[in-house]
Amino acid sequence: MKSRVRSVASRLLGGSRGAQAWQTWTATDGYICEQLGLKDQATESALAAIRSAGMPPIGVAATQGKMLELLGRLVGARRILELGTLGGYSTIWLARSLPADGKLVTIEYEPRFAEVARGNIAAAGLSDRVEQRIGAALDVLPQLEGADPFDLIFIDADKGNYSSYIEWALKLSRPGTLIIADNVIGSGAIADPHGDEPWGEEGGLAGVRRLYGRLGAEPRLQTTAIQTVGEKGYDGFALALVTEPPAGG
Ligand code: SAH
Ligand code: DHB
Ligand code: MG
Repeated sequence: MKSRVRSVASRLLGGSRGAQAWQTWTATDGYICEQLGLKDQATESALAAIRSAGMPPIGVAATQGKMLELLGRLVGARRILELGTLGGYSTIWLARSLPADGKLVTIEYEPRFAEVARGNIAAAGLSDRVEQRIGAALDVLPQLEGADPFDLIFIDADKGNYSSYIEWALKLSRPGTLIIADNVIGSGAIADPHGDEPWGEEGGLAGVRRLYGRLGAEPRLQTTAIQTVGEKGYDGFALALVTEPPAGG
C-alpha cells in the first residue's frame, strides 16, 4: 500500500520527482513526530499490531491523529462518532480528547479489523470510553438515533457513501458539532477530470465529489477542505461546522 501511495505521488508530480517529494514528506513527518513526541507507546503498538495482522496501512498519520485529538479538545467533545475503525489507530487519538466519562462510538464493517482494534483500544487503556459497533455504517447509524447528539463526527469509511454519511451526521449532530471527513483530495484526483481512483475503492472518487456537492449546498454547514502531504501521500480533510441555518434561508 505504501508503494501505491508512492506511485500516486510519482504520477502526480512526474516520475522520480514524485517519489522524491514523497520521501521528503515522509522524512518531514518523521521530524515533526520526533520533535513533538507524537510516536508514543500505545499508538506505535497499535500500528505494529495492524501491520502484523496484514491489514492495510491506510490509517491517518500520527500528525493527523494528533490533529484529530486537538480538534476534539477544541470542541470540548464528550461524544464522538467515527465511521471506519480499521485497527483503531484514529480511534485512539480521538478518544484521547475525551474526558474520563466521555464516549466514542466507532463503526467497522470487517469483524477481523474490529477485533484487532479491540486489542489496540484495550492496550491504550481506552476501552471504557470506546464502544465498537460491527456492521455496515448505513445499517448501524439508524440505531444511534434518539441518543444525545455527537460533538465530533469523523467520517473515514467507504468513500462511495460519503454523501449519505453527511445526511446521517446532520441527523446525529447539533449546532456546534464538528464533522471531519478524511480523504477528500486523493492526490488531486478530485479536481482532475481524468483522475484515477485514488483510494483503491471503485466509485470512491465519484462518492467524494458527491460529498463536495452536498457540502457546498448545505446551509447548515460552514465548510472548508485542507490539503495535506506526509507519509500517507497527498490527501486531505474536509472540516464542516454544523450551524443554525442562516435567518431567512
Ligand atoms: N479511521 C482509520 C482508517 C479507516 S480505513 C484510521 O485512520 O486509523 C476505512 C475503514 O472503513 C476500513 O477498515 C473498512 O473496512 C471500513 N469500511 C468500509 N466500508 C464500510 C462500511 N460500509 N461501514 C463501515 N466500515 C466500512
Ligand atoms: C486509503 C486511505 C485512507 O485514509 C482510507 O480511509 C481508505 C483508503 C488508501 O490510501 O487506499
Ligand atoms: Mg482515511
